[in-house]
This record gives sequence, C-alpha cells and structure tokens, in this order.
Amino acid sequence: NKVTFDYSKAAKFISADEVKSMERIVEQSKEVLVSKSGAGNDFLGWIDLPVAYDKEEFARIQKAAEKITSDSEVLVVIGIGGSYLGARAAVEFLRHSFYNVVSKEVRKTPEIYFAGNSISGRYLSDLIQVIGDRDFSVNVISKSGTTTEPAIAFRVFKEMLEKKYGKAEAAKRIYATTDKSRGALKKLATEEGYETFVVPDDVGGRFSVLTAVGLLPIAVSGADIIKLMEGAADARKDALEKPFAENGPMQYAAVRNILLRKGKQIEVLANYEPSLHYVSEWWKQLYGESEGKDQKGIFPASVDLTTDLHSMGQFIQDGSRNLFETVLNVTDSEAEIVIGEEPVDLDGLNYLAGKNMDFVNKSAMNGTILAHTDGNVPNLMITVPGQDEYSLGQLFYFFEFACGVSGYTLGVNPFNQPGVESYKKNMFALLGKPGYEAEREELMKRL
Ligand code: PA5
Repeated sequence: NKVTFDYSKAAKFISADEVKSMERIVEQSKEVLVSKSGAGNDFLGWIDLPVAYDKEEFARIQKAAEKITSDSEVLVVIGIGGSYLGARAAVEFLRHSFYNVVSKEVRKTPEIYFAGNSISGRYLSDLIQVIGDRDFSVNVISKSGTTTEPAIAFRVFKEMLEKKYGKAEAAKRIYATTDKSRGALKKLATEEGYETFVVPDDVGGRFSVLTAVGLLPIAVSGADIIKLMEGAADARKDALEKPFAENGPMQYAAVRNILLRKGKQIEVLANYEPSLHYVSEWWKQLYGESEGKDQKGIFPASVDLTTDLHSMGQFIQDGSRNLFETVLNVTDSEAEIVIGEEPVDLDGLNYLAGKNMDFVNKSAMNGTILAHTDGNVPNLMITVPGQDEYSLGQLFYFFEFACGVSGYTLGVNPFNQPGVESYKKNMFALLGKPGYEAEREELMKRL
C-alpha cells in the first residue's frame, strides 16, 4: 500500500536522456540533503523525525488529546502557515467531510476550528458565536511565538477562556506549541503554567506537520497518529534507500525540474476529492516558500476537480502553455453510491445505472488527463492508496523529501523564507509599532 509516482503520461514532453541526466543532478542534491552539507542545513530535523521523534512528548500529546476530548466540545487551533495547514489538511483528509456539523455520535470527538490564520474580525466573531457557551480548549501554535495573526487571535480566546473559567482553570485548557525556550508565547506559557509542546529548533514551520504542531490537533480529531508516523517512517526508508528507478520522490523532483527548464513555470496540483483541498494548500506552502526565491521557482497552484473543470478547466486545456499538472489520485474510495435507474430516462443518465460514483469520478479523471495531455499540459500522477493515516504519513514525507531535493536542484536554500518578512515590516510600520517610526513616515507618503 505505497504512495507511488508515475510520469509515463508525460513521456512525449520528456526524453529518456533528459531523465538520465537529471537523475545525476538529483542524486547529487540528495547527497547534499542527507549529508547535511547544503544551505539551510540547520533545518533538516524533519528528515529523521518519523523514526527519531520524542516518544515521551508523543505520549503527552495523546493524553492531552484525550483530556480535550473529555472536557471540551470545541477545540480552537490557533496558528498560521506551517503552524496550521498540515493539521487542517490531515483532519479534512482523514475525517468526515462534514466533520464539525455531523452528529457527535458519528464524530465522537470535539469540533475543531482554525483561527489566527487571517486578521478578519468577522471570522473571529462568527467563530465566537459558533462556540457559544459550550466548553472549549485552545491549542495555540507558533514556532517563533511572535507571529501577529495568531497572537491577536490568542489574546481574544485567552480572554474568553479566563472570563468563562477563571484564570487557573483557563490555563488548564490552553495548550501551547512553540519553541522550547524562546519567544513571547514560550514566556507566557511558562508564566501562566500552560502545558507546552515543542517545535524542534531544526524543523521549520512548513516541515512541522509530524511534530506536535500537527499531531495534537490531528489526535484530537480521532485520527491515529501512530499510523501516520508509521507511514512517514516507511516513506522515509524508501526515499533514502530505493534506487532512482523505484524512488517516487526522487523522480518527482527530477521531472518537475526538467519541466521547469523547458519553460513550465507553473505546477497545478489537481485532486478529484474535495477532502484533499487542504492537502493542496499545505503542498502549496511547502513548495512556494521553499522554492520561490532568488527570482526563481515553480509557482505552485491547485485545482479541485471536477469542480474547477468548470472554472479553470478552460485555461488548463487551452490557455498559456507554461504549466504542468500533477494529479493526486486516491485509488481506494470507501463510500459507495450507486447510480439508480429511472423508468423514463429524462436526464439521459440511464447508461450509468448500476455504476458507482467512484467509477464515474475516475473516468472523468482519466478523460481529463488525456485531454490535458493532448492540450500540451504534461501530466504527472501521484497515487495515494487510501484515505487513511498510513497513506497520508507517506504522502507528507514524499512531498517533504522531494521538496528538499528539488530545491537544491533548483539552486536555492529550500529551508529559509526571507521574503515573508517584507509585508510584516510594512504592516508593523503602518500599525505604529514602536521602533518603526521612520519606515512609517516613508510609507505614509506613498499611500
Ligand atoms: O513555514 C514557515 O516557516 C512559515 O510559514 C511559518 O509556519 C508561519 O509564518 C508561522 O510562523 P510561526 O509558527 O512562527 O508563528
């Protein structure tokens, strides 16, 4: 039950010689990655995480998840970027499509809402209304402990908890995931006595889904985090040990770099299951922040199909030819909806009677892949054997490993994000943060 990669449908765009020569280059990049000799080498803790994680903390995560489940109807997860996308991707991929609104009997675990990933007052006040007077807990996640969006949301929910439960009981409902010793959140957590979980120094935000950052919310959703780690551990072994011909992440890194060098500057990640929407969002952050720098990179985009065939489909089929497509194909669909037969075939669908929806969905997928290939969009495929924890653990690791190798092949430091600071500087200046007076004056003239 392995996640696999197949680029055979892109054969007309890529020659065997090109693959051979790129194979050498990505093998070198892999060597730089695993020998930890490249740029950003102090952020490579994620490579061994699936086999070298903190077992004591893992057990504490499971206990905290049990406590939250027993004393809270709602968990608010506060974080942005790498401090929320992985957890959200996992909960949506693994659990019920209508997780928060399906009955408690079906869900069995707390409702989970994400906050602090925007600065929208409307979103927060609507969320406060949804929580109402029900029991809730908060998991505030920030590696730096100083990011504005989650810090603002946390102020709001901290005050709400303290009003509702008093300071001492509120502190028992706040779980802080942050740096082990630095940052404002760590300081606050120590002073107020919150239970804390650690984002390791050598794991960057977008590579942190398999630390407490992702694991606590995922465990609260009722998903099996042991199986998730097992999937990642098996994918790690394959990524490190398999030769190129059998190594999915290495081939993916190679093929996307071949396509980039031929002017395919946009990669569209396509899924055919709505529950993969946030897997794509997680992937976009991983690749966008890792590769988009030094005026280089593949722009990561995504579509949810067949939905977006009725919006973006025209462009993919027929617009500027600067893109390639990677399809996430989940082979095993648990749900079986069989299309019925109508006595009078008014909608003309009787030819599908007796077929299940998954057959129709897969036919749409295969037809689309061929149409896009004919429209000169190289199509790659990553097959995910099931919508379960073991498969997702593999998929997370597959993408992370390929990202490290691909970034080095591109010639960038895949593990920093200097570009993220520019908007922050301007925002602080415009908000009147002390220390930004000169910048503020300059910016005000330009507004
Ligand atoms: O990948 C990254 O480093 C970023 O996207 C961060 O995850 C994001 O900016 C949030 O940072 P922090 O966890 O420090 O609040």
